[in-house]
Amino acid sequence: MTTQEPASVEQAADPSVEQAEAPRPPQIDTMLGDGLLGGASPAALARDFGTPLYVYDLDLIGRRIDALGAVLPFGFRLAFAVKANPALGLLAHVAGCGIGADIASGGELETVLRAGFAPVSIAMTGPGKRDDELAAAVTAGIGAVTVESPGELERLEGIAARLQRRQPVLLRLAVADDAKFERVRLIGGAEGKFGMPLPVLKEAAKRAAASPNLELLGIHAFGASNLLDVDRLVDHVAELVAVGEEVAAEAGVPLRLVDAGGGLGIPYADAEKPLDLAALGARLEELRARWDRDPALREMEVLLEPGRFLVGPAGAYVARVVDVKGTDAAPVAILDGGINHLVRTALVRQPQRLALLATDADSRERVPTTVAGPLCTGLDVFATAALLPKPQVGDLIAVLDAGAYGFTESMPYFLSHPTAAEVAVRGGEARLIRPRVSPRELLDSQVAPRW
Ligand SMILES: Cc1ncc(COP(=O)(O)O)c(C=O)c1O
Repeated sequence: MTTQEPASVEQAADPSVEQAEAPRPPQIDTMLGDGLLGGASPAALARDFGTPLYVYDLDLIGRRIDALGAVLPFGFRLAFAVKANPALGLLAHVAGCGIGADIASGGELETVLRAGFAPVSIAMTGPGKRDDELAAAVTAGIGAVTVESPGELERLEGIAARLQRRQPVLLRLAVADDAKFERVRLIGGAEGKFGMPLPVLKEAAKRAAASPNLELLGIHAFGASNLLDVDRLVDHVAELVAVGEEVAAEAGVPLRLVDAGGGLGIPYADAEKPLDLAALGARLEELRARWDRDPALREMEVLLEPGRFLVGPAGAYVARVVDVKGTDAAPVAILDGGINHLVRTALVRQPQRLALLATDADSRERVPTTVAGPLCTGLDVFATAALLPKPQVGDLIAVLDAGAYGFTESMPYFLSHPTAAEVAVRGGEARLIRPRVSPRELLDSQVAPRW
């Protein structure tokens, strides 16, 4: 029997039948392998770029985009949520992978345009969009502005009229969480910061549908963050499409686009399982098949805006141990950076996996280790009992899964330390994509007036 020509379907599916050259599935869940980060030597990265630094594995980002894209049914599109990581060098790579961008500000608009995203592939969502931001979005000709309130709709309509444009829009639905965040409901969302309750949204839909300067595409709702549960993700999409169909019918327009936001999760602990992409794809295919039987939904597209899923596991924050205290059995390693560069651990109280990156790490005893940054606050702790090879001054420690909501969510001014540099690795080759900013540079831009 050759591997190309299985004797029978049963045999081909039988794992005991040897598959001589079975292709190995591409690794998509970690950038750490054989002590390397994205194929680059941590010691060389630290030597060439200094510490602390963020390292991004662009090849892994590409593989994650491909892996997700491969399971999505026809008519599903992806837009990377730029808020997860707005580094220009990373965005230029994502743009080259052929997906769109989800942005939340004028600053992010400027960034994605410079990174090379086609304007039509850009959707802008977020509360409090200023007139100048809306005008920039309309002028650029972006694919969709997601409108969060009747007031914003009115302002956008005026701006589009002044610019003599017809701006495609989505309307954002307010969602209601139950007390335990176990389920997000689309119906019953109250007036709040995000989106519009359904009755308000329906009125906005009628206005948008009637406006010569707006083109109503459909609706948007963000469910919940960091979901590893396929059913919850798919239920959100299914329910949102059902609401969208109702809204479009009442407004008298076809439902052309439903934007289900992001929320695709990643494991932050060894015990958590990665999102089951095959199951996600299979369940979405079922939905697509059902929609295809409905003439009102056949042409509809669905946009997903993952941020964390695409880049989270493809980034690591690397810092150097500057002091080791405590005891041999329970050491405390103090790093040259902490929550000033990666605040997520303290913010959501969810530890991230750590790795000690020394060439002799495997030969060292593993001990429960406290890993902390240099800030004068008890919050500046990455882990209190991480089982790590016994640390020494000069070692490098990586906080893994830091590619999303890492650098961008940091608080670089606290205690006047240098910022972290950002480095991208591709094909094992590392390039600086954002230089470190020194406290002196920050100082030089300040003014002490002579009163
Ligand atoms: C509107 C919108 N889209 C997408 C995202 C990305 O979410 P995630 O990174 O969890 O996929 C967010 C995150 O807050 C969001 O607010």
